Amino acid sequence: MAVSVTIDGAVQIAVEGERLIDLVNRVGGKVPQVCYHPQLGPIQTCDTCMVEVNGTLTRACATTVSEGMSVVTSSAKASAAQREAFDRILGNHLLYCTVCDNNNGNCTVHNTTKLLGIEHQTIPFKPKPYEVDYTNPFYRYDPNQCILCGRCVEACQDLQVNETLSIRWEDAHPRVLWDGGSTIGESSCVSCGHCVTVCPCNALMEKSMIGHAGFMTALPKPALDGMIDVVKGVEPDTGYTSILKVSEIEAAMRESRIRRTKTVCTYCGVGCSFDVWTKDRQILKVEPGNGPTNGVSTCIKGKFGWDYVNSADRLTTPLIREGDKFREATWDEALDLIARRFTEIKAKTGPDSLAFISSSKCTNEESYLMQKLARAVVGTNNVDNCSRYCQAPATTGLFRTVGYGGDSGSIKDIENAGLVIIIGSNTAESHPVLATRVKRAHKLRGQKLIVSDLRAHEMARRADIFLHPLPGTDLVWLSAITRYLLENDMAHAGFLKEWVNGVEEYKKSLEPFTLEFASRTCGLPIDTLKQVAQMIADATGVCVLWAMGVTQHSAGSDTSTAISNLLLVTGNYMRTGTGAYPLRGHNNVQGASDLGSMPNFLPGYQSVDDPEVRGRFEQVWASRLPTTKGLDNHEMVDAILDGRLKSLYLFGEEMGLVDSNANYVADALSKLDFFVVQEIFFSSTCQFADVVLPAAPSLEKEGTFTSTERRIQRLYQVFEPLEGSRPDWQIVQDVANRLGANWHYQHPSEIMDEVASLTPLLAGVNYKRLEGYNSLQWPVTADGSDQPLLYRERFAFPDGKARLFPVTVPKLTEQPDDNFDLHLNNGRLLEHFHEGNLTYRTEGIREKTPDTFVEVSPELAQQRGIQSGTWLQLSSRYGDVRARALVTDRVQGKELYMPMNSSVSPVNRLTSSFTDPVTHTPAYKEAAVKIRVLPEVGENPLPRINSRFGHPTPQRGVEVERKWKRPAYRTPGNGLAKIETN
Ligand code: SF4
Ligand code: SF4
Ligand code: SF4
Ligand code: FES
Repeated sequence: MAVSVTIDGAVQIAVEGERLIDLVNRVGGKVPQVCYHPQLGPIQTCDTCMVEVNGTLTRACATTVSEGMSVVTSSAKASAAQREAFDRILGNHLLYCTVCDNNNGNCTVHNTTKLLGIEHQTIPFKPKPYEVDYTNPFYRYDPNQCILCGRCVEACQDLQVNETLSIRWEDAHPRVLWDGGSTIGESSCVSCGHCVTVCPCNALMEKSMIGHAGFMTALPKPALDGMIDVVKGVEPDTGYTSILKVSEIEAAMRESRIRRTKTVCTYCGVGCSFDVWTKDRQILKVEPGNGPTNGVSTCIKGKFGWDYVNSADRLTTPLIREGDKFREATWDEALDLIARRFTEIKAKTGPDSLAFISSSKCTNEESYLMQKLARAVVGTNNVDNCSRYCQAPATTGLFRTVGYGGDSGSIKDIENAGLVIIIGSNTAESHPVLATRVKRAHKLRGQKLIVSDLRAHEMARRADIFLHPLPGTDLVWLSAITRYLLENDMAHAGFLKEWVNGVEEYKKSLEPFTLEFASRTCGLPIDTLKQVAQMIADATGVCVLWAMGVTQHSAGSDTSTAISNLLLVTGNYMRTGTGAYPLRGHNNVQGASDLGSMPNFLPGYQSVDDPEVRGRFEQVWASRLPTTKGLDNHEMVDAILDGRLKSLYLFGEEMGLVDSNANYVADALSKLDFFVVQEIFFSSTCQFADVVLPAAPSLEKEGTFTSTERRIQRLYQVFEPLEGSRPDWQIVQDVANRLGANWHYQHPSEIMDEVASLTPLLAGVNYKRLEGYNSLQWPVTADGSDQPLLYRERFAFPDGKARLFPVTVPKLTEQPDDNFDLHLNNGRLLEHFHEGNLTYRTEGIREKTPDTFVEVSPELAQQRGIQSGTWLQLSSRYGDVRARALVTDRVQGKELYMPMNSSVSPVNRLTSSFTDPVTHTPAYKEAAVKIRVLPEVGENPLPRINSRFGHPTPQRGVEVERKWKRPAYRTPGNGLAKIETN
């Protein structure tokens, strides 16, 4: 409802409930606000936003507007209060802006000094009796510069919800504390960077900025201290105005050499976006703020994991195999060889003896070109991407039931849910920023959380109910609960009647799924299952989040289907706070499939066997297209081994490590007649190649990524490609043209225009609409309208109705037996991404998480005489690896867990070739192993500085009330302080 508010005599229209500070800012008012950050909400520690509301001094940040409110922002009373409050802040902070790396035009303390026209402070600066803490590899805390605004605490406690930071207001000299008083390095800090990003001054700073941002900040400490003394010395005579002028000239000079370029994170599918600050090829910092998904949020990888871009190991020259070795080659040589060999192989054994694998790390435009090369130039549908390894079953489950293969809403919709159910997803480590939104809603808003997983990971520990079903049995408890809800009038009958087909047939299919059967099969108590059912029935809205713990099973597609069935039966689609959210792993795994790198679909999930679809593409591509489904990447491996497939062209995928049964895959790759790998590093897969082409990473090119929310976002070029390397889209174009295509794309935007013209799902996507931080969530109609929440009016089937899809009791592969007696689970780790090719190249990440390990339960450790650090040999029916044990109660009994991030001991030497029969996604999570305890005992594989050893100190925000109770505290504005201004 609109309300009218008078601000400094002018009537303003506001929304009832709007924060007064937001209204003041919106109408161009100039009220200081040091601790306020719109994404954190009112913290109320700084008192600088004092205004008169209906005659009373009030903090504008903590006031919500109401009809008829009268506000004066610069009365004598308000101004005096603002200055008094800010004077206290300056008592905690030394203004040496000219030699400060934070002097970049965005320092809140600097800007507020200027805004208030402060000349001299009344309360002199007094250093605090603490040392600067440099113990985190990525950032440092300087207590002497800390103004105790509490933004960092609020961000850590209530936005990131890592609950590491606090301020003990009762201390004589309060400061920010990590785990209540640990060093940063040994605390529970996960290096997400939230605190550093929101700090309004230089108290928390990225180490990569220090000594590098300013023109005079690299001076040796004595010289720097001398300059600071000079500034302090002249201040009594000159006042701050002239000092600030000098520093502003210096800040303006910085603009000529520091570039700020928007990019999208290259790691996980959450889709965080941010500015990258660079000086030449040096990355000064990553600065999030305006990303539609993440705002100020990042995780350790997006904030600090970029060293790989400038790594000395980058490939910069094409390589050609000669016998057992590679020799450097020119681009012309390499491209000519590829064209010649592809042509020969096609002539001899036909186009279907070649195959193409696109990268889910590369851009949409690059994926589009790869599948166009396969189909229009070579003439085969043998093209796929790594969603086959993780996401295809979730897509199948959604195709079967609701029609679109993507998340049914946005992360905001998940935040709005009454109940979130997470199945088979270590969300806090695999999708960290998305997890923060769930943790925040759970902590602050009372959102309920149910987690089903084998491991007691962070989300499991936070959950209201943690289910630990027997491995691979999620389908059973999900279906049993659905049956129980239907039989006990707890389903949403009205929704089923209006929106869902196939109800009766589906009900019949549930016959085997009694609670008793589920209890026996899953090892879960019946009462717990009933409790879960009741929570689902009671919730205002249910979102289910799932990931590889579901999809990487032999029943991955059916379990995904069972999730969607449950949501349909309970009416949990078509509104915010509801829906199905398969969490996409890689930054562009959604986009790689959307853009047609799949053996059965052209871009936009248009079937290759539909003549109308093919006709449209043939006309624009001026080529006859193959008519039948090609090989997926799992089938490609078999086809190599049985001699049907002779050649493979792959970019940006570590297939030799990430496909299951790695020894079998390696055997296949070594049998290829001709193998082209396009990469930024010489990966394990490269060792099988005949030609290696040096590509450019995301920071060196333009393009778009599509996140798990179906959100398409632009990335801009931060650096020129390292000399000798090229962006993948240019390389694919070069290969196509050598094969006779006549492509002339000058920029990825032209590729996207072609995509839009051929793909109804993306009809309205173009670079203009995606400028800066703008984004679109598909489907996008030609007029540019997008759909953050799917199925608002209909499901994506011709009659607009959803479909219940019966599933059956799954048969598991690879069960433990007497010989292989342990179950091996595997997955991601917060600090590393995938096989670690990128993240191991960031020194700070390596320091914190140097090596892989095997999690062993305390029970098993005791039984077998294992301690953290004991070397173990793990053997399965397919191979062996060695790794050190980490004894932890995150795992139970005879279940082991191994992170997937290792090229030295890749877990996939142990996994099998069994797959989900529908999608051929490997059943990575069904692995039986045995262990041999080796005599060597090494160090704990996780060093003491790993955050998992910390002890968080949860509390609600900064607890400012405790500050107000300090004996010396008084609300500013009583006229006692005199602050001189200009
Ligand atoms: S976890 Fe660490 S980096 Fe993240 S907000 Fe908390 S203290 Fe800062
Ligand atoms: S370190 Fe924290 S409390 Fe100190 S100034 Fe920065 S954000 Fe504020
Ligand atoms: S949550 Fe994912 S997208 Fe966001 S910064 Fe971390 S890795 Fe990047
Ligand atoms: S901005 Fe309102 S108290 Fe700090």
